Amino acid sequence: MGYRVAVVGATGNVGREILAILEEVNFPVEKMHAIASRKSKGVEVSFGDSTIKCEDIEQFDFSSVDLVLMSAGGGVSREWSEKIGKAGPIVIDNSSAFRQDPDVPLIVPEVNPDDAKLATKKNIVANPNCSTAQLVVALKPLHDAAKIKRVVVSTYQSVSGAGKEGMDELWNQTKAIYGLGDATPKKFPKQIAFNVIPYIGSFRDDGYTDEEAKMWDETHKMLDPSIKLTVTCVRVPVFVGHSEAVTVEFDRPIEPDEAREILREAPGILVVDKQEHDGYITPVDAAGEHAVYVSRIRKDPTVEHGLSFWVVSDNLRKGAALNAVQIAQLLDETGVISPKSGYRTLTV
Ligand SMILES: NC(=O)c1ccc[n+]([C@@H]2O[C@H](COP(=O)([O-])OP(=O)(O)OC[C@H]3O[C@@H](n4cnc5c(N)ncnc54)[C@H](OP(=O)(O)O)[C@@H]3O)[C@@H](O)[C@H]2O)c1
Repeated sequence: MGYRVAVVGATGNVGREILAILEEVNFPVEKMHAIASRKSKGVEVSFGDSTIKCEDIEQFDFSSVDLVLMSAGGGVSREWSEKIGKAGPIVIDNSSAFRQDPDVPLIVPEVNPDDAKLATKKNIVANPNCSTAQLVVALKPLHDAAKIKRVVVSTYQSVSGAGKEGMDELWNQTKAIYGLGDATPKKFPKQIAFNVIPYIGSFRDDGYTDEEAKMWDETHKMLDPSIKLTVTCVRVPVFVGHSEAVTVEFDRPIEPDEAREILREAPGILVVDKQEHDGYITPVDAAGEHAVYVSRIRKDPTVEHGLSFWVVSDNLRKGAALNAVQIAQLLDETGVISPKSGYRTLTV
């Protein structure tokens, strides 16, 4: 027995990864549907050894499936996720549309697995922003050991975080600049090839961007609302893999060696931390991998109990598709969904 699953956004960066990871982790699938917009109807995507043809979201009967993994952007989620949840399946939503909804749990399984029990309130579970997911995986075990008071984060986010169009823009601009062609920015507000852009999302009145605000809002919802965070999000000309320079202030002394031990024991983390060139991780090393990598753990001497470190992960995997599949596994393991359950009744 397996689940009847629909992947919405199946032609996209995240959707394709979801299909690959469901197969890699042997998630029990009885029937898989690939869903995208009308223009992709009939387009073939890979699922394991087979290819499946995309179906049009407008024509698909969502009551015929148990689980929907949604990664087609906030607008599509706002239009569809609640309707789909009411029709029966559980929706695991990759967009920001429901992350702050009090009736929708926002889950990183290494951090707040117990929130899975809230999944049937709206039959929607939210998947966090890519930069938040890898951050909270690293912060959680440290916070359990020594309470975190304040975090300062600068991100170095790859272009795949902006979807297929973001990757195409870096590729085309790079070629155009070498070949004296047209390198006019279209997807990003400024040239991304051979450049960095200190702006992701949209500006807020307080001078931060909404991408930056997502990181503290989501950390507060999943980990602890008392942690103070300040964030600068930066887009860099890297195809896959987000990096973060993180500085944390604790309420008690914590030595780099103690932090290394804690992080080594923690789920989902690989510590690669030696003072040599194989002793730290870059996004190229992390692309295609499942782990959140932590490197360059050192004391921050400017505060009483501070540590600085470097966190890297594949944004399409732990930042999106892998976390979504891990949520599906968590719902399965905790009995929130079961292959035979089919339809569920909303609890509110
Ligand atoms: N990339 C990341 O690192 C990351 C991380 C966390 C969360 N997310 C979120 O995941 C979602 C998808 O991101 P992505 O990077 O995969 O984007 P993408 O590569 O641009 O893919 C977008 C997907 O959505 C589909 N789509 C667009 N409009 C649609 C409509 N009206 N109806 C049905 N399907 C529609 C597209 O289908 P067509 O090909 O038919 O247009 C495509 O399959 C976004 O919400 C994003 O914020 C992304």
